[in-house]
Amino acid sequence: MIKRILTGDRPTSALHIGHYVGSLQNRVRLQHEYDTYLLIADIQALTDNFEHPENLEANVMEVALDYLAVGIDPGKVKIVVQSMVPELTELTIYFMNLVTVATLERNPTLKDEIKQKNFTKGLPVGFYTYPISQAADITIFKADLVPVGDDQLPMIEQTREIVRRFNRLYRKVLVEPKALVGEVARLPGTDGGAKMGKSLGNCIYLGDSPEVLRKRVMSMFTDPTRIHPTDPGHIEGNPVFTYHDAFNADKEEVEALKARYRKGTVGDVEVKERLFKALNSVLAPIRERREHFAARRGEVREIIMEGTRKGRALAQQTMEEVRAAMKLTYKLE
Ligand code: TRP
Repeated sequence: MIKRILTGDRPTSALHIGHYVGSLQNRVRLQHEYDTYLLIADIQALTDNFEHPENLEANVMEVALDYLAVGIDPGKVKIVVQSMVPELTELTIYFMNLVTVATLERNPTLKDEIKQKNFTKGLPVGFYTYPISQAADITIFKADLVPVGDDQLPMIEQTREIVRRFNRLYRKVLVEPKALVGEVARLPGTDGGAKMGKSLGNCIYLGDSPEVLRKRVMSMFTDPTRIHPTDPGHIEGNPVFTYHDAFNADKEEVEALKARYRKGTVGDVEVKERLFKALNSVLAPIRERREHFAARRGEVREIIMEGTRKGRALAQQTMEEVRAAMKLTYKLE
């Protein structure tokens, strides 16, 4: 039987080049090999944006445009909007019985996010339990494979645990998924921070114009110990070289730049100029496809609606099996 992929993104903004190397590239590469579902997780986006639901609709469209821009084939891949599959909510509630508070407490990604988001009015239960709803996302589509950035690995582990518990307790209905991490598991931000993130203001977006791209590259953080271009520089932990490794197809150029950088015979400006060129040649066709679809939003809406219809049908089928396994099929007649 053909294997299935499910993965997704919170529509809190358009997607960036960290998403590209972490997960999008894998999705494009595998889309003809796997039956692929991409979930635009608007309900999950609410867990830390519930005060601004008015932004969701536009961002659902932005994320769909990014999928199409990187080369997702709308004739094959199903783009599904989470809020239009209410069965996910039901499965989440059933899963809540199978997860302890202690397990959530140990989830390292959840911990980091809670710290970073600094919820001033206390930690919302909705946010705290999003790993459970994510497990529902993955399992309702019976996914075998989940292409994600490495920050999402604890979520997949949590999902696997839930699946094992469910299948043991009720009946073997659910599929235990595997994670697939991209070539660059975690791309640093342009500020050298550990992760590229919208709320951190250190992103390069897939749709950025050449002008914006150039500005972001030229203002990137490099080696803080290096003051003059003649000082020997450090490659390790230097995001400019991490990006060269991730995006510059000319490996010889990258190696030559590294050697010169270490010796102090090349300035940051030249290294960044070459990075701009390399990144721009990756992003140019993406930008072009994005513009193509952005001018045809009606068509994109139809693609989303069709994907969601198919996704929901599959979710409904799984839920029938889930309810039967849980003996929730009684009729009080
Ligand atoms: N948590 C993911 C993110 O932060 C988004 C997401 C929602 C997801 N549901 C998913 C990822 C299911 C993989 C599988 O972007």
